[in-house]
Amino acid sequence: MDDHRLTIVSNIQVLREEIADLRAQKKTVALVPTMGALHEGHLSLIDFAKEHADQVVCSIYVNPKQFAPGEDLDAYPRPLIDDIRALEGKLTDFVFTPTDDEMYPDGFSTNISVSGVTSPLCGKSRPDHFDGVATVVTKLLMMVQPDIAIFGEKDYQQLLVIRRFVRDLNIPIEILGAPIVRSDDGLALSSRNQYLSEDERKTAPLLHQTLLQLAEDIKEERSKLSSLIEASSNKLTKAGFEVDYLEIRDAKSLAPIIEIYEDQTARLFVAAKLGTTRLIDNVAV
Ligand code: PAF
Repeated sequence: MDDHRLTIVSNIQVLREEIADLRAQKKTVALVPTMGALHEGHLSLIDFAKEHADQVVCSIYVNPKQFAPGEDLDAYPRPLIDDIRALEGKLTDFVFTPTDDEMYPDGFSTNISVSGVTSPLCGKSRPDHFDGVATVVTKLLMMVQPDIAIFGEKDYQQLLVIRRFVRDLNIPIEILGAPIVRSDDGLALSSRNQYLSEDERKTAPLLHQTLLQLAEDIKEERSKLSSLIEASSNKLTKAGFEVDYLEIRDAKSLAPIIEIYEDQTARLFVAAKLGTTRLIDNVAV
């Protein structure tokens, strides 16, 4: 008989006691931080976590600090019961659902701010976003104190920001990146895809198709880097996207790439709005 049990915890003290119990049993712990509205992409992170640790904690917390005024904080989907069912299906061990009061008690005045990797790409149009992410992820890492924590490569810049402050602050937790999960038509899975209208959903896969084609073209014609990028950006605009950025950058530092060399670890990054929905994606070149 399956005696697996999913424990739901909202209180930090209770979570700490549960984790201490696991530690006493010499169990390793993986944390998968999420904002809920779980889809197959998140669930693949749970599978990934289970391959690397004895017990898996999934946190669900819609972090107000990473949304700017006017962004979709209020509209952000919060289907907690469905999320818990999905996690049960994946034999997750703990769901941690801290409240706003636990996360940011009255008088909370600390900010984790990372420079450099936060400046380009999404950092330009969402200037305080990565401080919000870094602050909440630091708190989640301190609360759970896992051996490893898993983040999806769809939010590639976020993954680099997290790796950077974990290294800078000597946080003894290994950060693992997990590959992007896509629909059959190539669209990267995202909780925000559910905002897309039927027509927008049909157009959305063009984002990934354009990136793939551009990556191929760049490999063929390295010297035409900037004109190839411009043509791809124009193609997206023509199809109805409002392009925020389409750029090629170094995959480790996010430094801009003007000329691309044979052995360079380059990556293409795109963010574009379709109607009111902001989509991001990235591919290796
Ligand atoms: O990627 C996300 O869902 C969020 O940015 C994270 C890492 C859970 C922090 O709120």
